[in-house]
Amino acid sequence: MSSTTQAHLPSLGEHQRDEVGHQLQAMLVELIDLSLFGKQLHWSVTGPLFRPLHEQLDELVDSWRELSDVVAERAVALGYFPDGQSATVSAGSNLDRLERGALEDHVVVRELTGRLADVAERARERMDRLGEIDAASQDVVIEVLRALEQQLWMIRAQFGHVGRG
Ligand SMILES: [Fe+2]
Repeated sequence: MSSTTQAHLPSLGEHQRDEVGHQLQAMLVELIDLSLFGKQLHWSVTGPLFRPLHEQLDELVDSWRELSDVVAERAVALGYFPDGQSATVSAGSNLDRLERGALEDHVVVRELTGRLADVAERARERMDRLGEIDAASQDVVIEVLRALEQQLWMIRAQFGHVGRG
């Protein structure tokens, strides 16, 4: 059954709508997963950089949660209903599970940078794909990518020297 039965939807073909919705859904899952991962790091970090990492992680989590809302609501605007429930996120996630327990600050920086960079790279691929179908949805992913790449720069600038250790 189609999920696009409402009237006055943007004039995309059904196939295009599903493809855009699929791309946005995948982006949503990654952002939710990243926000859960960020909280886990926020709770697990130890070491001399505890305070700045602990605080910055909460800012990142807030940003990823806000971005996930923007992505999900773009999907709804297209008539594609997103799914951000835990079972869906778990099934669709590409992120490996973190071991429960204390993590030294340099490990947190390495884990954070690596995962954020992976998500950003896939966002870039989605941006390119969406550019062929729907520029308005591509714009949403561009917003996500710009934020993620800015975050990567700031982490690199502040913590890059410890993450390499
Ligand atoms: Fe907290």
